[in-house]
Amino acid sequence: MPRKTLFTFALTAALIVSCNENSSPIEASVDEELAGLILDNNLDGDPLNGAVPPAIGSPMADLGKRLFFSKSLGGEMDASCATCHHPVLGGGDALVLPVGVHAIDENMLGPGRLHDPGAQGFDGGPTVPRNSPTTFNLFLWQRSVFWDGRIETVDGGIFTPDSAGYPTPDPLAGSTLSESQARFPVTSGEEMRAFVFEDGNANEDVRSHLAARIGNNGIGAGEITDNWLPLFQTAFEDPMGTAVDLITFPNIVEAIGFYEDSQVFINTPWRNYIEGNEDAISDAAKRGALLFYNSPAKGGMSCVNCHSGDFFTDEDFHLAAFPQVGRGKGDSVDGSNNSADFGRQRVTGILADRYAFRTPSLLNVAATGPWTHAGAMEDLSSLVRYHANPEAEFFSFSFANLPVGTQITDSFENTSDVMFELAKQRAANSTLLAPNRSLSDSEVADIVAFLSALTDPRVLDPVALEPWIGRNDGTFTDSNLLDAHDGNLNQL
Ligand code: HEC
Ligand code: HEC
Repeated sequence: MPRKTLFTFALTAALIVSCNENSSPIEASVDEELAGLILDNNLDGDPLNGAVPPAIGSPMADLGKRLFFSKSLGGEMDASCATCHHPVLGGGDALVLPVGVHAIDENMLGPGRLHDPGAQGFDGGPTVPRNSPTTFNLFLWQRSVFWDGRIETVDGGIFTPDSAGYPTPDPLAGSTLSESQARFPVTSGEEMRAFVFEDGNANEDVRSHLAARIGNNGIGAGEITDNWLPLFQTAFEDPMGTAVDLITFPNIVEAIGFYEDSQVFINTPWRNYIEGNEDAISDAAKRGALLFYNSPAKGGMSCVNCHSGDFFTDEDFHLAAFPQVGRGKGDSVDGSNNSADFGRQRVTGILADRYAFRTPSLLNVAATGPWTHAGAMEDLSSLVRYHANPEAEFFSFSFANLPVGTQITDSFENTSDVMFELAKQRAANSTLLAPNRSLSDSEVADIVAFLSALTDPRVLDPVALEPWIGRNDGTFTDSNLLDAHDGNLNQL
């Protein structure tokens, strides 16, 4: 190449580079380093790995959606699944801890939803002891559901709370984790059943009574007047089927599970970046990704130790030592209170599992707050700061700043007990958490930018979510539809 041409070429190249921020030498090296980490971690951005989720819009998904939004599945008809898992609220309820039955306004969701102080079982705060996780991407969980994994794929089937001891399969569990799970909220007094309906009776009695109610027959005859049968006939492709044949509890949960499994939201900016669009995420998110994937030796936080793969979870259980708030699960270290939550130990009975919770997926995490098993973290920056340095952050954590009514009387003591176990794990080198590190404000902001890039834009857009919202229409009217609104009376 003649000298002059070479010079012009170099100049043009320099101009192009300086016009495109993401191609400057420094940024290019971040992209290169990330490319290496993406390769090392075997990421392709697609957690489905060829599995095909059900589509929303089919008759089965439509039936499942209507059931998911129906308070007819609540014992006293005041709570539906969507009460705590509304798509517009990130597939959760936007509360630290849920209020299920006996809300003052049963159609109000999110902040402002309060338990009726005069109702049975009220103790001053939310009556459900754990944060409501998102139903988004339920289809992707292979091993277990619930914070403590108490519905779990085991040899020979699915273990559930109805099983005869861990890890015996439950013969009635159904074939998917989603179906198995949907059998339980209806039996929980605080979540859906309330305290009069089938009180004291077996879970199967609750379920068959609810099916009879939806089918308007037997023990449930006359409890509602809505005609669900045609929806079941279409979904189960049995136009002549009777209510007794078709409106069974296994069919109800099959439809609900089908609908939930259609909530797959995985098209994130991060995926787009992995697929080759270097501009899909911000420079801050790229720096956050380096902190996320790199080991402490390389200046990172090894978040990927637990939040691994394209689904951002190892599906295993770890002690992360987040604050324990709420009424707890009735556990107690020394008998001084019964408001602790032993987490995974409650399922396996193994002491080493105490305070361990399932590693959450981080897909859509920007939409699924408040976070952690007890919902104590209300913003992602504080969460990241705490997660990186629990021992120090615990002492400055302000329980009193949680929403009024959150039960915090025993929280300091209960969380201290958790810290004690974490200290043992640190000493034994048995935790996968990185060594404590006080992150700078900009490091926190970078990690939060990365976390935000793990969110599918559709979950932040009510218009995009509309196909998943239960509404009365020309096809069917449910007199017990959850007609959800927020604290400002905006319809959800
Ligand atoms: C009062 C609020 C409430 C209601 C009503 C409710 N849930 Fe939940 N849901 C929760 C809470 C809290 C958890 C976590 C409990 C735990 O892990 O111990 C949960 C967990 C789940 C999970 C597990 C998600 C995961 O990733 O582990 C699914 C799925 C789910 N619920 C679906 C349903 C369905 C289906 C219904 C209706 C039949 C329903 N929920 C009704 C509060 C509620
Ligand atoms: C030792 C395994 C482990 C490591 C390492 C780890 N996490 Fe976690 N993470 C967890 C567990 C377990 C929870 C849930 C704990 C709970 O609910 O009490 C969690 C919760 C979270 C949550 C809240 C998600 C939700 O839906 O509630 C976020 C966000 C998060 N981690 C991000 C990170 C980031 C960022 C890093 C690195 C700085 C990190 N994690 C490192 C195990 C880990």
